[in-house]
Amino acid sequence: MKFKNPVLKCIYTRRSVRNYIDKPVPKLVINELLNAAVMAPSAMNTQPWNFSIISDKMKIKWLNDRVMNMGRFSDRLVGAGLKLAKINSIFYNAPLLIIISGKSNYSYLKEDTNLAVENMFLAAKSLGLGSCWIGFGKPLNNDIEARKELGIPNDFEISAILIFGYPVKEIKEIPKRTPKIIKLIK
Ligand SMILES: Cc1cc2nc3c(=O)[nH]c(=O)nc-3n(C[C@H](O)[C@H](O)[C@H](O)COP(=O)(O)O)c2cc1C
Repeated sequence: MKFKNPVLKCIYTRRSVRNYIDKPVPKLVINELLNAAVMAPSAMNTQPWNFSIISDKMKIKWLNDRVMNMGRFSDRLVGAGLKLAKINSIFYNAPLLIIISGKSNYSYLKEDTNLAVENMFLAAKSLGLGSCWIGFGKPLNNDIEARKELGIPNDFEISAILIFGYPVKEIKEIPKRTPKIIKLIK
């Protein structure tokens, strides 16, 4: 890190967190995450994102169990190189789950969502929270009962499933990553 400022510090020290303490995320903090999300750029300023916020432990467990009980889940976990034995919840017992969805026929839903997500991740880091994207939650998109529970309309698709919470330990190490430049034209 050649330049030192709080934004760069957050960018460099944000890591996916998979271990959370049992402490709820205050409403005020959740609102800040949502406000940070909607400040992201979006194609033609469409702001296509919609949020389902779940902080009820039982409901998070319910959603987890639905995904984990869907066929071939364990195969996919092993395929992804994760040790099944280590995972009893794809949401890692995080106290807060935020699901983003938007109209499935909108071409830039993915791009706009991704920008909102990183805003939330960095805002979370700046507020002492950990976060992680949970791609393994994707099958929820096809789960009519779960979608209903999450308030997701029929013409929407889930574009991101995210967890947040206070990390068991703060990660300070910055992994070495080198940009792969395939060509430099001067
Ligand atoms: C689209 C996407 C899906 C992901 N899905 C999962 C997931 O299901 N479970 C998980 O533990 N981590 C998941 N991750 C986190 C990545 O594993 C993580 O970002 C990557 O290993 C780099 O680590 P870092 O975020 O600490 O820099 C996902 C990340 C992205 C961007």
